[in-house]
Amino acid sequence: MSDASNILVTGGAGFIGAHTCEALVRAGFRPVIYDNLSNSNAAVLDRLERLTGSRPAFIHADIRDAHQLERVFTDTSFDAVIHLAGLKAVGESVEQPLHYYDVNVTGTLTLLAAMRQGNVRTLVFSSSATVYGDPATVPIHEDFPRQPTNPYGRTKMVVEDILADLAGSDPDWRFALLRYFNPIGAHESGLIGEDPSGIPGNLLPYVAQVAVGRRQELSVFGNDYPTPDGTGVRDYIHVVDLAEGHIAALTHLTAQGGFVTTNLGTGNGFSVLEIVQAFERASGRRIPLRFAPRRPGDIAACYADPSHANRLLGWKALRDIDTMCADAWRWQSRNPHGYGGKDGS
Ligand code: NAD
Ligand code: UFG
Repeated sequence: MSDASNILVTGGAGFIGAHTCEALVRAGFRPVIYDNLSNSNAAVLDRLERLTGSRPAFIHADIRDAHQLERVFTDTSFDAVIHLAGLKAVGESVEQPLHYYDVNVTGTLTLLAAMRQGNVRTLVFSSSATVYGDPATVPIHEDFPRQPTNPYGRTKMVVEDILADLAGSDPDWRFALLRYFNPIGAHESGLIGEDPSGIPGNLLPYVAQVAVGRRQELSVFGNDYPTPDGTGVRDYIHVVDLAEGHIAALTHLTAQGGFVTTNLGTGNGFSVLEIVQAFERASGRRIPLRFAPRRPGDIAACYADPSHANRLLGWKALRDIDTMCADAWRWQSRNPHGYGGKDGS
């Protein structure tokens, strides 16, 4: 056994989790994955072993299982937790709000109680740019008002408030609240990537599945937004840059403690049509598309002011949009059905 720090990664089998585990190993940490595999596949463990040379320990369990979590903190000594387990589909959260509050809020409360019992008081939390709702202006700075427009976003805001209250009650807690913008791409090896179940709800996996021939054409939701080409503008960030942001946050908390709230984005906005063009360049394939009505709840433009994370964490997103698309295409073309034909499409 090495003396590397153990980091519990809830949701570590998921898209961002797998890339965070890879980055943790690269930075000399030992990730332990805690995941119920409700939106992921155990095959990711084989891929991480091939990629990093070590198989992460894996606990197949639910974040709401208090007994299991207590046992985890009793059995192993952890330096910190990176909490990514949760549900993230905006539309589903409108249909099933109780389920979303249960997993995202009750799950986090259960985790925090177990951490306190196990005397682990350092947590990096996946929040989201969705807490800003429809911002009055862009780029978005951390002190903009939080006004989420759907239950998913409200679960993230509630957890942010819980963490602030807990920090206020006991200065030993150390928290980093990371507000992700739009993570895309994949590890450059093509071994791990995004593997959504069913029809992808997000732009990049949909475009990638059109390119690989699994879907016929992209529907572009709205071409009458007040943006340069009329389509929605977002801050796409390479998932490996995002993963490295977690290492920077962890390192900062370990060295300085405190309560950190920061955007993780690039500061650049790209429209849907610009993304399609970048993916066509990366893949050499044409992406057939049609214009469709706006998607309910969508906003025109959302991109970060990333300067706080640059200054505070010494972290900056390094990979450009062509690299994001090239890496996403490598993953998609080598794994046309993701980790193993889960959805049978
Ligand atoms: P993902 O679905 O790929 O990963 C989430 C993981 O959590 C999955 O492996 C899933 O099986 C696990 N999980 C879900 N419910 C669980 C439960 N009750 N107990 C244990 N494990 C459970 O999603 P992702 O894109 O990797 O997102 C990770 C986190 O980042 C989520 O909290 C999400 O809300 C947040 N986030 C994601 C995005 C994005 O666009 N991908 C943007 C902002 C924030
Ligand atoms: N879009 C299409 N066609 C599609 C899918 C998306 O035109 O098939 C467009 C959307 O209208 C939007 C852009 O592509 O203009 C990006 O849409 P995504 O669904 O990929 O991403 P969102 O910005 O809507 O939301 C994502 C996550 C949220 C997270 C948010 C953070 O889904 O959970 O990023 O910024 F909170």
